[in-house]
Amino acid sequence: MPEFIPVLTRERIEELVVGVAGKICDDYKGRDLVLVGVLKGAFIFLSDLCRHMTIPVQIDFVEASSYGAETSSSGNIKLNKDIELDIEGKNVLIVEDIVDTGLTLSYLVEHIKGFGAKTVKICALIDKRERRETDILVDYACCVVNAGFLVGYGLDYAENYRELPGIFHLKF
Ligand code: XMP
Ligand code: MG
Repeated sequence: MPEFIPVLTRERIEELVVGVAGKICDDYKGRDLVLVGVLKGAFIFLSDLCRHMTIPVQIDFVEASSYGAETSSSGNIKLNKDIELDIEGKNVLIVEDIVDTGLTLSYLVEHIKGFGAKTVKICALIDKRERRETDILVDYACCVVNAGFLVGYGLDYAENYRELPGIFHLKF
């Protein structure tokens, strides 16, 4: 059995999400904004984030995968579900659970720009820098961690543990 080492409690996550939602609202006040959540991992983060926003937003989703049951990125990004809204000329904020190598987001940023979005920025719950392979910039990060495979609050290991209210380092 792996060991679960606590990283962020539910209460700490709430504080971080409130903080980042406030920054986003300050920056986008008076402008349109489309939040594009990256399924499945970002589903809880996005649902909490949008309920702390004080500006109107539209919401859409993409589903991208590269991991399967492994814990390191293959770099082979598969788009399982695309956006449905027309984002041409709109400001888009991609909402991701965790940025690791950055390969998924590099792909998604280009993909979203391809629809003619006016601006494309990135918001991630966790910016994990240890294995970064791209020069992608996370515009809004709730938390920076250096290492470890994390689960809970939407994050999974082989589709398990997404339902945990806090975030844990899964130690094998
Ligand atoms: P890349 O490497 O492309 O990876 O930046 C982004 C995707 O990889 C998944 N990922 C994780 N999932 N715990 C997880 O549950 C982790 O520690 C972790 N690190 C990367 C995640 O799905 C993210 O969208
Ligand atoms: Mg993900």
